[in-house]
Amino acid sequence: MHALDRALDLTVVPGYTRLGYSVRSRWWDELPRMDGRVVLVSGATSGIGLAAATALAGLGARVQIIARNEQRGERAREQSGAERVWECDVSSMRSVRELARRFREEHSELDVLVNNAGVLPAERSLSEEGHELALATNVLGPFLLTGLLVPALEAAAPSSIVNVSSGGMYTARLGVNDLQTERRSYDGGAVYARHKRAQVVLSELWAERLNPHGVAVHSMHPGWVDTPGLERSLPRFHRLMKPALRSPEEGADTIVWLAATKRPGGGFWHDRERRPTHLLRRTRESDEERARLWSECLRLTGLELPS
Ligand SMILES: NC(=O)c1ccc[n+]([C@@H]2O[C@H](COP(=O)([O-])OP(=O)(O)OC[C@H]3O[C@@H](n4cnc5c(N)ncnc54)[C@H](OP(=O)(O)O)[C@@H]3O)[C@@H](O)[C@H]2O)c1
Repeated sequence: MHALDRALDLTVVPGYTRLGYSVRSRWWDELPRMDGRVVLVSGATSGIGLAAATALAGLGARVQIIARNEQRGERAREQSGAERVWECDVSSMRSVRELARRFREEHSELDVLVNNAGVLPAERSLSEEGHELALATNVLGPFLLTGLLVPALEAAAPSSIVNVSSGGMYTARLGVNDLQTERRSYDGGAVYARHKRAQVVLSELWAERLNPHGVAVHSMHPGWVDTPGLERSLPRFHRLMKPALRSPEEGADTIVWLAATKRPGGGFWHDRERRPTHLLRRTRESDEERARLWSECLRLTGLELPS
């Protein structure tokens, strides 16, 4: 199995499609139950997040959905079997702070945080606080939410965080010199790939900090998945690849597996296997760039962490 899995990964196209899923999943075990464990999932109104919320609720978890729109959130709650909807726009630091405050009032413990909400806009725009909108949604909001929920995650240890990245990050270097894409022209796909790279690096940095306290921090990529988001953001790619795309359930599988199996530590995962974080030498970042990403995220979100 291992050689076949590696071959699928290196050839990218078959590995990322439903073919990769159907070959690999033959060897997989059934997932353990998650009865009573509290799981918070962002972007659960659609696509991969909705499928993850449904599967997690099916395992008995007390799923909490983050949704920026009340109606869509309520519809997703009914569809998925989730326990509760929390209204929050993850691109707004004000809204993320409010969510974290309210959540911690009701829950002293959080077993799993899934940062899944993501966007790939074609054009540059700004969030309510003046951050580049995709950066705020893909990187800053999840970073702040993670930081504010650390006490609840530590209280539930062994607990975990799963950050949903993308295979697109393999093409990108960390764009830490121009995080808000102010200096170069805005290419939505390239900006998104840089954000997905940043998510993987931040996951590793959070893991260094949180692993000693029993909190695992993973990142993963779902492959190419037939979702409303993909259809909207990359319509040509979606049309061309449609017959080979994974279902949202297949794309969500590794999120659910990481959450259910309480895998400790961290790593970048796809189809229940750890994957390399770089395929090209040119995408490697320095330690200084990693440290600068961390301090920029602290500065832009205003997050204060105990030293
Ligand atoms: N589909 C793929 O092939 C693929 C491949 C690699 C990685 N991914 C990643 O998988 C994740 C899910 O994507 P998807 O394909 O399932 O896309 P999707 O169908 O568009 O779902 C995205 C979710 O994020 C939510 N969201 C977006 N901006 C938000 C905000 N500011 N505040 C709160 N929620 C927000 C959306 O809520 P609304 O309903 O309110 O819009 C929706 O629930 C993303 O991180 C994406 O980068 C997807």
